[in-house]
Amino acid sequence: MLQAKLRYDDDMLDQPNDMNGETNFILAIDGPAGSGKTTLALKLAEHFGLAFLDTGLLYRATAKKLLDAGATADDEVAAEHAASSIAATDLNPDQLMTEIIGQTASKVAAIPAVRIALLDFQRRFGDGGKGAVLVGRDIGTVVRPDAKHKIFVTASVEQRAKRRCKQLQERGVAAIYANVLEELCQRDARDRSRVVAPLLQAEDALILDTTDQSIETAFENAKTLIAKRQTAA
Ligand code: DC
Repeated sequence: MLQAKLRYDDDMLDQPNDMNGETNFILAIDGPAGSGKTTLALKLAEHFGLAFLDTGLLYRATAKKLLDAGATADDEVAAEHAASSIAATDLNPDQLMTEIIGQTASKVAAIPAVRIALLDFQRRFGDGGKGAVLVGRDIGTVVRPDAKHKIFVTASVEQRAKRRCKQLQERGVAAIYANVLEELCQRDARDRSRVVAPLLQAEDALILDTTDQSIETAFENAKTLIAKRQTAA
């Protein structure tokens, strides 16, 4: 079972912030692939001096273990075994961001036993510190429904495909827009339609549509949404 804390370092925790003395500050950020949620979440974690967890890495690491073992995503027993054996050292993004791992992650994420195996670590993440920023698909609905701050980040599928294409090209991958768009549509459909913990906006989440927003604008708007919820409490 995962024990280690991720991207949690003492320097970050010493940074000034504007949390108004709030303790156990949990910020749940959800949204579809390519919405910009992970970049935004990381910036918010740095701003508030909070621990950060990209929960997609847990599903990606499970997918990689499965593929490395020569198994496929329809082997539920092997997938659960892979999820149960994930360690913090398996969560290096550099080895997990390929399209095949992304697609397989989306498939293993639909297996209830895989989600259960990965739940406890996510729930306990940031406990005992000032709080944490968690980013994924079901943080506000299932992992931390108790979070006071929830943001659902979205953007048009065309804009998300454009961004994903650019990211891939920057990494030296020869990405074709039409293929990336098709892949995103498939992943969206799978993530939204699965029976357990589908991609869904929590009822009390605030929506941030980043279609026409740069990351800097999205960051400013997210801080405004958080401040509004703080004063409303
Ligand atoms: O965020 P990402 O693209 O790295 O996530 C990869 C897959 O993992 C995504 O298609 C769905 C799944 N996932 C999930 O089901 N629940 C989460 N909290 C995070 C990711």
